[in-house]
Amino acid sequence: MSESPQQFEKRKADHIRIALDPRSQAEGLSGLRDIQLLHEALPDFNFKEVDCSTSFFSRKLSAPFFISSMTAGHENAAAINSCLAKLSADKQILMGVGSQRRELSDPAAHQEWKQVRARAPKALLLGNLGITQVIAAPISQIQAMVESLEAEALFIHLNSLQECLQPEGTPDFRGGEKAIEALVKNLSIPVVIKEVGCGFSQQTLKRIYDLGIYAVDVSGLGGTHWGRVEGLRSQETDILFQVAQTFENWGLSTVQSLLNAKQINENYTVWASGGVRDGLQAAKLLALGSNMVGIAQPWLKAAMQGESATADFYEKTLLELKISMFCTGVQKLEDFRTKKVWKWHEH
Ligand code: FNR
Repeated sequence: MSESPQQFEKRKADHIRIALDPRSQAEGLSGLRDIQLLHEALPDFNFKEVDCSTSFFSRKLSAPFFISSMTAGHENAAAINSCLAKLSADKQILMGVGSQRRELSDPAAHQEWKQVRARAPKALLLGNLGITQVIAAPISQIQAMVESLEAEALFIHLNSLQECLQPEGTPDFRGGEKAIEALVKNLSIPVVIKEVGCGFSQQTLKRIYDLGIYAVDVSGLGGTHWGRVEGLRSQETDILFQVAQTFENWGLSTVQSLLNAKQINENYTVWASGGVRDGLQAAKLLALGSNMVGIAQPWLKAAMQGESATADFYEKTLLELKISMFCTGVQKLEDFRTKKVWKWHEH
């Protein structure tokens, strides 16, 4: 179904409003409560020596957590994105931009990001497109899009459940693997495949791991749930509202999805997101083998309050991560790879 610019803007604004409604959150389902970090009573280093810095290709990052892809193309988006991009620049953390789909059909749409970039020239931005656009759009157009953003990498999102429950959805992913493979071969920057909160099975991961992608962000069940978000856009009497309720807990948890990815191979880097709300939860995913941890909805909440709230959320998350590292005897992020510092929680 084609969508007018007004309908597009309303849909994007609805997403923001509903993502802030607790009913859209699959709280408690991420699997993170089942993971316990092992307390170290006698760490052999100074807390001040805990080092959370990492890198992404040539970029030095202050922390292994990033701002997950969110929004673009509506009235509030410019303010939200400027606030988040400024934080990305100030703190040197990665920021995924919201879907750039509109830029493929509306030449003026990239202006929004040009303005964000002008306010935060040093922001470390990752582009974003859905798999449907990757299948349909010429690679040259996608290349021009990421160049215009000055993107460090491109996220391709896979969102099968959401496309089914969206009145405007396009649930046709035929040719997806081939399209990803061709894009990876020809694009000038790395490609990261992500879900949007329903995670990955081992079967899917096995199919995508040979396509040459740089990383997969498993983005599992446990946080913002796009079945719930789309359902909440409809009236209670609508079929889509009712069907969305049937699927309100659909997906593979963030922890399960991450373990699925780690069990398969080390060919690509694994990132994790979905329901991460603090630095302790980020530490659990790093302990389980994630290289980088994505957070979406809490940044949105903070950005709605302004720049100091986003800076506060960054500082709080970083401190929680550092304490988690000190109290597990992990001085630098690489140590998570060599030391096992977690166990299943006995409830
Ligand atoms: C998203 N997410 C998302 N992902 C994507 O790849 N492209 C997009 O355009 C969007 N849009 C979007 C809007 C809003 C308002 C939110 C909250 C999220 C999904 C996001 O990147 C992430 O995968 C999930 O939200 C799970 O993370 P949280 O919210 O549980 O931390």
